Amino acid sequence: MRLKDKVAVITGAGRGIGKAVALAFADAGANVVAVDLAFPPVEETADEIRARGGRALAVRADVSKSDDLVKMAEAANREFGGIDILINNAAIADIKPKPFLEVTEEEWDKIMSVNLKGVFLSCKAVFPYMKTRGKGKIVNISSGTHFLGAPGLIHYASSKGGVIGFTRTLSRELGQFEITVNSVAPGFTITEGVSSLLATPGVDEMTVARRSIKRRQMPEDLIGAIVFLSSDESDFITGQTVVVDGGVALH
Ligand SMILES: NC(=O)c1ccc[n+]([C@@H]2O[C@H](COP(=O)([O-])OP(=O)(O)OC[C@H]3O[C@@H](n4cnc5c(N)ncnc54)[C@H](O)[C@@H]3O)[C@@H](O)[C@H]2O)c1
Repeated sequence: MRLKDKVAVITGAGRGIGKAVALAFADAGANVVAVDLAFPPVEETADEIRARGGRALAVRADVSKSDDLVKMAEAANREFGGIDILINNAAIADIKPKPFLEVTEEEWDKIMSVNLKGVFLSCKAVFPYMKTRGKGKIVNISSGTHFLGAPGLIHYASSKGGVIGFTRTLSRELGQFEITVNSVAPGFTITEGVSSLLATPGVDEMTVARRSIKRRQMPEDLIGAIVFLSSDESDFITGQTVVVDGGVALH
């Protein structure tokens, strides 16, 4: 019960990595605020948590919309009496690769508004509640694409690099409030979000072959690092990025 009675907001909790984190956080004792674009998926996450004996609130919010996030944070505070943890996981990850010259300005703006601005707006909405608590934990989900480069995903990889710059800067601003801000950068992880990439011949084999640990990465592989960075055990660690990819990007 490493997160016992903590209130954790997890964006993009309707499926994939976000859902796995939401379930694991509930098992670790947290009260979970599961945020996603649409019901029913995020309501199902909350239902699963309740069925396992945990406490959860499902909130429909678009992380690229400030008003949605302010209302989400108010609802979380009403339900659970504060906010301790924010996992910025929501992103558009399901992207058909294409050469950078073919990426339109609209596609670039859309990815940036969800994957990067969404992290900024979520932090703004949640910060007042962490400040009141006198402590807080923010974990931003980046991506190994930032370290490796990802041909065909120029907008996605750029947004995820931005998340790391954002993390480092915000950690310096919020340390005075005992709020830690860290990133976790997953490698290629089997979720619905990468189904079109996974369908590309050779991608699955290539991602396994280049790892030190030669197997597929699953959402559950990310839980240890994310729980650690959300728990009291990491109170003196901030501004860092933990790469969880089975040993691809070494630095
Ligand atoms: N799967 C991978 O290989 C991989 C690798 C590196 C990083 N990541 C990152 O991990 C995170 C989760 O990825 P995933 O594979 O589970 O993706 P996914 O597509 O399976 O799930 C993403 C969730 O975010 C939600 N979402 C999307 N836009 C949203 C918005 N505007 N507002 C609220 N919710 C929104 C979706 O509805 C979905 O439920 C993302 O940040 C992704 O970039 C994934």
